[in-house]
Amino acid sequence: MTTRKKPEELRSHRWYGVKDLRSFGHRSRTAQMGYHRSDYAGKPVIAIINTWSDINPCHTHFKQRVEEVKRGVWQAGGFPVEMPAISLSEPMQKPTTMLYRNLLAMETEELLKSYPADGCVLMGGCDKTTPALVMGAVSMNLPTIFLPAGPMLRGDYKGQYLGSGSDTWKYWAELRAGNITENDWQDVEDGIARSPGHCMTMGTASTLTSAVEALGLTLPGAASIPAPDSRHAQMATLTGKRIVDMVWEDLKPLDILTKQSFRNAVTTVLALGGSTNSVVHLVAMAKRSGISLNIDEFDEIARSTPVIANLRPSGKYLMEDFYYAGGLRAFLARLGDRVDGTQKTCMGTTLGENIADAKVYNDDVILPLDKPLVAKDGLAVLRGNLAPGGAVIKPAAMEPHLRKHQGKAVVFKDYNDMSARIDSPDLDVDKDSVIVLQSAGPQGAPGMPEWGQLPIPQKLLKEGVRDMLRISDARMSGTSYGACVLHVTPESHVGGPLALVQTGDVIAIDIEARSINMLVSDDELARRRAAWKPPIPKFTRGYGALYLKHIQQADNGCDFDFLEPGYGEANPAGGEPEIH
Ligand code: FES
Repeated sequence: MTTRKKPEELRSHRWYGVKDLRSFGHRSRTAQMGYHRSDYAGKPVIAIINTWSDINPCHTHFKQRVEEVKRGVWQAGGFPVEMPAISLSEPMQKPTTMLYRNLLAMETEELLKSYPADGCVLMGGCDKTTPALVMGAVSMNLPTIFLPAGPMLRGDYKGQYLGSGSDTWKYWAELRAGNITENDWQDVEDGIARSPGHCMTMGTASTLTSAVEALGLTLPGAASIPAPDSRHAQMATLTGKRIVDMVWEDLKPLDILTKQSFRNAVTTVLALGGSTNSVVHLVAMAKRSGISLNIDEFDEIARSTPVIANLRPSGKYLMEDFYYAGGLRAFLARLGDRVDGTQKTCMGTTLGENIADAKVYNDDVILPLDKPLVAKDGLAVLRGNLAPGGAVIKPAAMEPHLRKHQGKAVVFKDYNDMSARIDSPDLDVDKDSVIVLQSAGPQGAPGMPEWGQLPIPQKLLKEGVRDMLRISDARMSGTSYGACVLHVTPESHVGGPLALVQTGDVIAIDIEARSINMLVSDDELARRRAAWKPPIPKFTRGYGALYLKHIQQADNGCDFDFLEPGYGEANPAGGEPEIH
């Protein structure tokens, strides 16, 4: 039987329930906002961390959704308090939202720590908002439900569906190749994003919200519901109701998250053909939970996990189709015992119980296990003298002839160098060349932007080339595709071997053997290393300086070192700050 907390055991009791000078201030100022003490006395205070912003198109509906969450909280006998947090708008923020993921994680942790929160609802979905919110909330370890923004509707262009990102890259290449007009390109611009919600391909947003659902931190089925669907609004209200009960039950993230639930999330990501970004974020979320998850586990699980979601960029359909086909619940049910159904979820039930009655309604969207899109290797981790700490590639979304390949490197020392020269008619490059970008990692860019789908030189596009081997220490948008080796670790900026590659060096990859090497002698590499000089740091003040000092490499999840559990618990006394 579940034991329930008493009102005086609530964390918020310290603010509202005691009789002292400070609590007089808390109550009188709550009255100032129009609330009577009967509105909150003895009730769980639910912090709703809302990443709405006028600059974030993926979260435009959060202004309405937060009211629906509040409705649920009130109905269940809680006191809802909306707390806005930095939005991390993927299409708008330069150089990359990844620079600020840890800032939102810190903000989430500190909001929950410093205010009278008994539990929280996290409202996110646009790429980095999901891991950031979860990382912060896991560190605080108060009862938590993640409310995913939901995917936007399918894009529309001349009667065809458009997929976020994927079709941007596709039609951009066609424009550069001269196959479509500027007017066509403008029609793509007008129709590719036509409703609230996050990217509707199996990009980073859909991958991570699905992973968080598999972890047990959302309501069952929540991650697949399209943002404008009325069932998304209903889900928001039900989230508000459930979080109040979670507080009374004292059901916290660390009661839910286990090694096995993280392996469930990895299996889910891989079977979805999900984003390579999930590697960095799941490693970071696991470490925050005190659970070790390393990049080689992705590779190990990938070797026996079929990709059964027929979704772009690897497949054909979009998230709206996935929802109508049964959504993530049906997808997890189809995975059978590949996921551990005994894992607990925020409902208090197990994952297996949550998906027991789920059915697939369209076998062409959620494929049978014996008819997968790709039999294995949704992701692969490569190692060798070019990436001793590992690198990631998505074999499901590349041309098969490049799985085992050798070619001469064409090296760009940074993004500006690449932009300036990539389309030059004089660039000495052919379809077998290997495009290499340096200085695009966590320290180098800085922020490890999604530059990893390096552009194919225009003269090769005109010859019909649509994929070639590309290597960088950057990440890649989950909506991207191609033979792009990413997350090369250690990155070039800190002196990783990628910094030593020169134009003309032969690079060899073999996905089956999981290898990536530059065919350069050890003596020559030692000579280059001795001549290498560390670059000047890009930030000397403010958040950027803090970031550069503490950011870890991609294989460690790019978290700040001081935010890991080894630096102490965020919430050591059950959340009661000592400071008055
Ligand atoms: Fe927000 Fe893609 S831009 S999820």
